[in-house]
Amino acid sequence: MRLLKQTWLLLKLIMVLGLLVTLLLVSQIKGTSPAYMRKYSWLEYTDADGGPEKKCNCSAILRRDTEALQQAKLLTITKAFVKAIQIPDEYYINATKDCRNFKLSRKYLTFPLSKEEEGFPLAYSMVVHHKVQNFERLLRAIYTPQNIYCVHVDQKAQASVYSAIKAITSCFPNVFMVSQPVNVVYSGWPRVQADLNCMTDLYNSSTNWKYFINLCGQDFPLKTNLEIVRTLRSLRGANSLESEKMPNEKQWRVTKVHEIVGGNIKGTDKKKEPPPFNLPIMSGNAYIVVSRGYIRSVLEDNRIKALIEWAKDTYSPDEFLWATIQRIPGVPGSRGTHPKYDITDMNAVARLVKWQWHEGSQGSLQAAYPECQGQHVRGICVYSAGDLPWMLEQHHLFANKFDTSTDPVAVHCLEKYLRKKALAELW
Ligand SMILES: *[C@@H]1O[C@H](CO)[C@@H](O)[C@H](O)[C@H]1NC(C)=O
Ligand SMILES: *[C@@H]1O[C@H](CO)[C@@H](O)[C@H](O)[C@H]1NC(C)=O
Ligand SMILES: *[C@@H]1O[C@H](CO)[C@@H](O)[C@H](O)[C@H]1NC(C)=O
Repeated sequence: MRLLKQTWLLLKLIMVLGLLVTLLLVSQIKGTSPAYMRKYSWLEYTDADGGPEKKCNCSAILRRDTEALQQAKLLTITKAFVKAIQIPDEYYINATKDCRNFKLSRKYLTFPLSKEEEGFPLAYSMVVHHKVQNFERLLRAIYTPQNIYCVHVDQKAQASVYSAIKAITSCFPNVFMVSQPVNVVYSGWPRVQADLNCMTDLYNSSTNWKYFINLCGQDFPLKTNLEIVRTLRSLRGANSLESEKMPNEKQWRVTKVHEIVGGNIKGTDKKKEPPPFNLPIMSGNAYIVVSRGYIRSVLEDNRIKALIEWAKDTYSPDEFLWATIQRIPGVPGSRGTHPKYDITDMNAVARLVKWQWHEGSQGSLQAAYPECQGQHVRGICVYSAGDLPWMLEQHHLFANKFDTSTDPVAVHCLEKYLRKKALAELW
């Protein structure tokens, strides 16, 4: 009897131990199995989310598969396709009436993907005037709850564009419309004022963001938020933007007084005074990646305030103001004034742009980059799927220009690629 009881106990013990070992093994297998690792796989973009461009084979496109590239090209010139990819502004006004459903169905991230990203919030200024679909896909690609976003819609934008963008922003507590919108004039001062007004609002509305990035509606990221954060951390306080000697053929922009007449910028014969404090005027572009300290200087430094006043009647101040401030001694993250500290757009991380006159066949010594696979607009490449493989090899955080109303394949493949990468980075 006693022996039986002891054997029974031993048996029970063995069974419990066996169960424990099995559990341990199962949990270990689970820990490395794809099913377990794909905890957030519901956030991946699938074909079910895609528009008519989901027909394209993105993984083949990214591998430079000629057949897939040809198929994509053919698709974008098909009449039925071009018609099918247009989304009316009213769609967004209706779809955002139910914000919860909008964010869920569009798969917006509603939590920071990592502690590292949560501890390094960014501030974005987005200056937009049309193409709501482009804006919404851009916002979705860069949206995380720890960042903040200021959106400037041109005062002369269509009423439906304004309403649609306002409706989208109202779904997010950390996305807001600029408090003082302006009437943007191409190549004129108001383009800078739009960014300045967002800088003011962003600086004032949160004290914890670390870097500022400005975008327009036709930009798109080439990196995930984590990659952006890591790149910015590695800058260790420095800014990254184009800032070079101004070429002689552009000097007229800052030596002649310009004025805005009937919504257009016009040159006059009047000569401009030299810049305040004899600041050397540099050449650059409108898109920058700068530290919070740089923005503080822009808003508070008296030398910069004087420079801003001086720049208001110049041509295309967006293409020299930020570049000039970047070389003023004492501005946080700035670089030396000496020409040895010049930095080109290809060396800065702010923006990848293919200028038509710098393109050329691969291997050509004169060419800065391979030929545009899409169309040119005002000398700038509007990317197509064929540009993607090369673009993804570059270090830039963002690229310009994309247009989802003429060629949505490039954006479609980029957004799929980036979301997949962001979720893979979790492990
Ligand atoms: C995409 O192309 C790859 C070859 O590059 C192929 O293996 C894959 O099956 C294709 N996917 C689809 C959905 O056609
Ligand atoms: C408006 O949006 C809802 C979902 O939020 C959708 O069910 C409905 O079909 C939409 N109506 C129109 C006219 O698009
Ligand atoms: C910042 O916000 C405060 C409080 O809302 C306001 O008083 C101040 O004028 C703002 N500063 C700027 C530069 O807008």
